[in-house]
Amino acid sequence: MDILNVLPEATFAALDDLLAFISIYDDQVRTRAYLRLLRAHRHAIAGAVCVDAGCGMGYFAEAMVRLGARRVYAVEANPHLYALAAERLAAYPQVICVHQPVQHFEPEESVDVLVHEFFGPLLYDEDVHVLEQLRFQPRLVLPDRAVLMGGLTWMEQVADETVTPAVVQRLEGALVSGLFDEGRLPLQFPVIQWAWGQAEREAVCDLSGREGDLLYLGLQIYHGDRLICQAGRCENWPYVWTPRAGDRFRLCFVPAERGAEVHFTWE
Ligand SMILES: C[S@@+](CC[C@H](N)C(=O)[O-])C[C@H]1O[C@@H](n2cnc3c(N)ncnc32)[C@H](O)[C@@H]1O
Repeated sequence: MDILNVLPEATFAALDDLLAFISIYDDQVRTRAYLRLLRAHRHAIAGAVCVDAGCGMGYFAEAMVRLGARRVYAVEANPHLYALAAERLAAYPQVICVHQPVQHFEPEESVDVLVHEFFGPLLYDEDVHVLEQLRFQPRLVLPDRAVLMGGLTWMEQVADETVTPAVVQRLEGALVSGLFDEGRLPLQFPVIQWAWGQAEREAVCDLSGREGDLLYLGLQIYHGDRLICQAGRCENWPYVWTPRAGDRFRLCFVPAERGAEVHFTWE
């Protein structure tokens, strides 16, 4: 979904984000995996003060109410999503909808549980960095860990009549999401990790000794050791592809006002 006409910059940004974020709800595997994660922590949520950080349409806030939360702050920066969530959640007196970037939010009581889904296909390329700037300290963060994994294959094995090896070679230096279907290609090695309280944001990855001329990257989301969901199985996070142009690459993320800039180079 693309907006095709000229609009004032702020109007465009808010509507563009609205259209980008509602498309995540096409991915029911992702949403169900998160709802399972919440249910697995029902004992921590019952009676608790919870924050749904970047609540979108507010489904996780609603789930936490149903699991017995005493209060849920549904915090959303986008004005359109905030309005839609506030409308949906109006039936629940336990929910307070907050239209604010979550890093500016200062609750008047201590927070027990925070749920968030700020991950991009490259882990840090959306808004996960905002969790480093919170003005409150939740006791439990769901989920608490994610890993960007890598793998190598051969262009000849995945190329089709349109995206031929010759086309792929032209993409040197570009990270392209959704270029091919993930098929059964396994995620083989860790590239960069995020854990609650431990952001990395820059990695150098050494591919020496590994075979393949096409690199792919895919996200895995964990809580502790439990895999919650992953790229390839959730359409919200496609694999990201690039032709191999060396044995080492550097990946670096610079937080920006909307998401984070991604810098990628072969060394
Ligand atoms: C990937 S969506 C997830 C929505 C919802 N939590 C879910 O998983 O169904 C991320 C949401 O976070 C919101 N968001 C992004 N940065 C934010 C910030 N700094 N503070 C509050 N909301 C933010 C976006 O507008 C979007 O609604």
